[in-house]
Amino acid sequence: MDKQSVIKSFETHVSAGKAAFFKKYGMDFVMGQREGAWIHDMDGNKHLFNCHSNGGVFNLGHRNPEIIATLRSALDELDIGNHHLMSQERTALAQQITDTMPGDLNICIFSVGGGEAVDLALKLACGHTGRQKIISANGGFHGHTGLALSVGDAQYRDPFGIDTTNKIQVPFNDADALAQVLTPDVAAVILETIPSTLGMVMPEDGYLANVRELCDKNGTLLIMDEVQSGLGRTGKLWAFEHAGITPDMVVIGKGLSGGIYPIAATVIRDALDAIFKKDPFIHISTYGGSELGCRVGQKVIQISSDPVFLERVQEAGKMIREDLEEIQLKYPKFFKGIRQTGLMIGLELRDEYGGPALTKAAYDEDLLMIYANNDTSVIQFLPPLTITDDEIDLVMEKLDRAMNTARKLRAALMAKETGSRILRFFSGQSS
Ligand SMILES: Cc1ncc(COP(=O)(O)O)c(C=O)c1O
Repeated sequence: MDKQSVIKSFETHVSAGKAAFFKKYGMDFVMGQREGAWIHDMDGNKHLFNCHSNGGVFNLGHRNPEIIATLRSALDELDIGNHHLMSQERTALAQQITDTMPGDLNICIFSVGGGEAVDLALKLACGHTGRQKIISANGGFHGHTGLALSVGDAQYRDPFGIDTTNKIQVPFNDADALAQVLTPDVAAVILETIPSTLGMVMPEDGYLANVRELCDKNGTLLIMDEVQSGLGRTGKLWAFEHAGITPDMVVIGKGLSGGIYPIAATVIRDALDAIFKKDPFIHISTYGGSELGCRVGQKVIQISSDPVFLERVQEAGKMIREDLEEIQLKYPKFFKGIRQTGLMIGLELRDEYGGPALTKAAYDEDLLMIYANNDTSVIQFLPPLTITDDEIDLVMEKLDRAMNTARKLRAALMAKETGSRILRFFSGQSS
């Protein structure tokens, strides 16, 4: 099929809304070949350096050769496995993951995607505590499945009339607001360690320790969503390590797939297993913890937990910071600030039109970076963790030019569009 036929068929059979949107903004890219940091249009006429990495799915680049080799060899002997039976591959990955976790975060339950893994954490919190209330952050994002959706932002829930009884939201980084609603009838607090759809908001010093303390006082479980911030993105394997806390549950997704085989996990403390000891078959996931995916996950953890790999992430983060500060000096009115831990980076722009304008200007410079959907004044800047020095230079040259263009584009967008719903479909989460 040629590209125009694909687009036409996509419009009819997949999503007319998305097809219309991409046409409107001159971004009619259809993914073809992909390798390392680059994705190519199927007609070969355009390529994009992926500085979004699908929120971490492509932490190790596209089609990472080590991951591909791992899956190829796994295919010689394995398949999905059997979710009823015990499994060598699930055991190996669970042990490897829990070995990297503090305290008694010793048990790992596998899912297909991040939303499913969040749903499990939330239902387990309710089952374990016998309580129903869940607290999350305004503008946070935990997925589009049942419970995950109900603790997320209103714009994704309301069109579907989702019930939010017993769901409470507070501003991130506001321990006082949390203290007011965190009472002994709350089952869990769930937070992204660094809320990315809210624009890479960095937790203030002491905030997460405060949250931990408040949870302990009330017998409430603390769930950290590391779907985007985990697996080395921040220069430590897990972002919560920066805060020195031990959560009760940790949710992992995206990058665990190596960009090749979907797999996610919920890591829980020993005591939380009680409900499954009583009845080990009350939670299943047919494809969650597929043995092929477990092999891939094992390779991902092996690569990402290597101290040399994590040091390189920190070093690349420092290089990028220096370059970003220089670019900022050139466009101080438009490029207002840098939010950063390692390679988890948010570019703060002038206002809500800035993110969409820079998304489009960067696209025209062959850079894929996407604004944060719950704060469109921020661009999510998530290069692959494998980015080389030369690639950093190239990306920064392109970003400099894109910033210049985006300033003018912002004014045009302001004149044409109404508020922050512009470029809405090009959202900051998974796709
Ligand atoms: C922080 C966070 N949690 C959970 C999810 C849900 O993951 P999935 O799309 O795999 O269900 C996402 C997806 O973008 C995410 O960003």
